Amino acid sequence: MDILVTGGTGGIGHAMVERLSQLDSVNVHAVWHSTPPPVLSCPVQWHRADITDEKDVSELARKLERVDWIINTAGKLHSATIKPEKNLQQFEAAAFEEMIRVNTLPTLLLAKHFTNAFKHSPSPRLAVLSARVGSISDNRLGGWYSYRCAKAALNMAVKSISIEWQRTIPKSCVVALHPGTTDTPLSKPFQHNVPAGKLFTSHRVANDLITIIQSLTPAQTGQFLAYDGTVIDW
Ligand SMILES: NC(=O)c1ccc[n+]([C@@H]2O[C@H](COP(=O)([O-])OP(=O)(O)OC[C@H]3O[C@@H](n4cnc5c(N)ncnc54)[C@H](OP(=O)(O)O)[C@@H]3O)[C@@H](O)[C@H]2O)c1
Repeated sequence: MDILVTGGTGGIGHAMVERLSQLDSVNVHAVWHSTPPPVLSCPVQWHRADITDEKDVSELARKLERVDWIINTAGKLHSATIKPEKNLQQFEAAAFEEMIRVNTLPTLLLAKHFTNAFKHSPSPRLAVLSARVGSISDNRLGGWYSYRCAKAALNMAVKSISIEWQRTIPKSCVVALHPGTTDTPLSKPFQHNVPAGKLFTSHRVANDLITIIQSLTPAQTGQFLAYDGTVIDW
């Protein structure tokens, strides 16, 4: 089986790459972007790509003829110049566009360019790291406009891809996954509010999410699932 992990040098992505490469009969392909990958003792084929760039994604799809699972763990919440908004006055168009570019666009590009590879797989799965804050029905606090909107748009993309592929790739399963708050660079500035026992290690999250992905069936396509397997309302 061939598995592609995008965001392979990120906190969660890297833990998934390590775990997947320990499984029997699995070839792991991982994408790195600006941070070169560390040397691992396990066999992983690394590819450099900016997955917000359609040329890079189509080139990646051309190189990898066989892919059974894609796990997209790339994402962004903050940077040196971007912080999640506490209120409307902090909202900026450029930050909003950047959140959509990194959190929403890549899944659509990956789905478009890997459709053919998935048609040849016996059990194709597209699992995308979203976030509970992208659930419209779960939004009780407001704020974080750009990240919330980008993940809500990602959730809509996941749902629409799942519907199209039910017709064209009936064996496929497409899901959005919420990892829970995980100790990575992405969550670092926001960890002080996390209740005791609710900040997970990336290795625990990687194990939980891989267990979920392994057990997916086409009947679950189009779902939004948390790290413990529970269904999250959109
Ligand atoms: N950590 C949490 O508590 C938490 C909670 C809910 C949801 N999530 C979601 O889970 C996912 C993984 O989060 P994380 O905590 O592991 O984040 P992270 O440690 O910041 O990793 C993010 C990864 O995305 C990659 N990336 C960003 N832009 C890219 C691009 N244009 N092309 C290719 N790769 C790109 C980064 O690579 P470079 O650094 O090289 O650009 C990095 O490897 C994200 O989608 C996040 O929104 C995380």
